[in-house]
Amino acid sequence: MLGVAVGGTAILLSKIGGKIYAMDAVCSHMSGYLPRGELRDHTVVCPVHKAQYDIETGKVLKNVPALMKLLMHKEATDVKTYEVKVVDNAVLLKV
Ligand code: FES
Repeated sequence: MLGVAVGGTAILLSKIGGKIYAMDAVCSHMSGYLPRGELRDHTVVCPVHKAQYDIETGKVLKNVPALMKLLMHKEATDVKTYEVKVVDNAVLLKV
């Protein structure tokens, strides 16, 4: 995984099986920086409270624990994904 900034937006790039995916790099729960997390198959795990996101859709696959939701009054929500094209070894993102 790699974190980049495109037009002022922090983006997480992930490469799986030769394909590159792009999604917001900041966790929707409490702003954990997802490039510092883990990539497990097609799932990104936030390094802070371990919410999990689908790398292709940005959907939350596993939210923070219920007690944490209750204490922080906030849960993880889906993050935005971006269209990726590779042209002559350059990665192009539509943001
Ligand atoms: S900041 Fe990512 S799960 Fe809390």
